[in-house]
Amino acid sequence: MLAPMEGVVEHHVRAILSKIGGLDGCVTEFIRVTDQKLPYKVFYKYAQELESDCKTPSGIPVKVQLLGSNPHFMALNAQELVRYGAKSIDLNFGCPAKTVNAHEGGAYKPPAYWHYIADIRAKLTINVVANGEIWSVADYFRCREESQCDDVMLGRGLIAQPDLAKQIRCALNQEPYTPLSWLEICQMLFDYYRSTTPLYYEKNCGNRVKQWLMYLSRNYPEAASFFEFIKRKSLHHEIEQAFQEQLDFLLNKKHSI
Ligand SMILES: Cc1cc2nc3c(=O)[nH]c(=O)nc-3n(C[C@H](O)[C@H](O)[C@H](O)COP(=O)(O)O)c2cc1C
Repeated sequence: MLAPMEGVVEHHVRAILSKIGGLDGCVTEFIRVTDQKLPYKVFYKYAQELESDCKTPSGIPVKVQLLGSNPHFMALNAQELVRYGAKSIDLNFGCPAKTVNAHEGGAYKPPAYWHYIADIRAKLTINVVANGEIWSVADYFRCREESQCDDVMLGRGLIAQPDLAKQIRCALNQEPYTPLSWLEICQMLFDYYRSTTPLYYEKNCGNRVKQWLMYLSRNYPEAASFFEFIKRKSLHHEIEQAFQEQLDFLLNKKHSI
């Protein structure tokens, strides 16, 4: 599953990552519940998949996450969500954001103690999904072994390597797989940039791709160089041009090999 990540995994990102493959489910960013019944537009803002049977465009189910500490209003808003078509609701217990921790929500910083999850799993009859610090296929197998869970959730690892779930799936099925190249990742990022640009003020238009590039830098050295190249650019046409140049360069390189 794709983990909820506030400020990172909105519905465009869920669509991209679930299209690449390997995922069985996603979770929205948290929707904050205080002391009122929220209107549909708030739920829709975070969970646009409510309009498409709670599935991403490639048909992967999406759970809607609520964050709050008032049981009455959490229940009321969960009921509202069900009325609006949510199939599954997730409660936030794991967000590391300081603002969330300061409001009686969220949890834990690294490292991830997967073996503690095994104790919990042994005591429960419901399904338990293990997560935390899964950056590679090898981490996935270690997490499963230590947590004794069949299901895992990927957060930053999947942002840093968008086909990690696919790599895991292929490893499980013993199918050959060639990981995505930087050219493919860069094309994907450019599509993401173009589809989300109209949503932001121009001065903020590159922020999300810059953030994604930072995560990608962990696995793709080219992402780190491209980040350095665009980090001070804030005008739409500058960022657009930088992407075009990067893609032209990569395509020329590919064709000259
Ligand atoms: C930037 C960021 C935002 C997050 N937002 C949420 C959130 O909205 N809800 C939640 O339950 N957990 C949230 N988390 C926690 C992640 O879902 C996940 O449990 C955590 O990152 C550990 O998994 P990972 O090592 O695979 O990233 C967030 C984590 C990060 C890094």
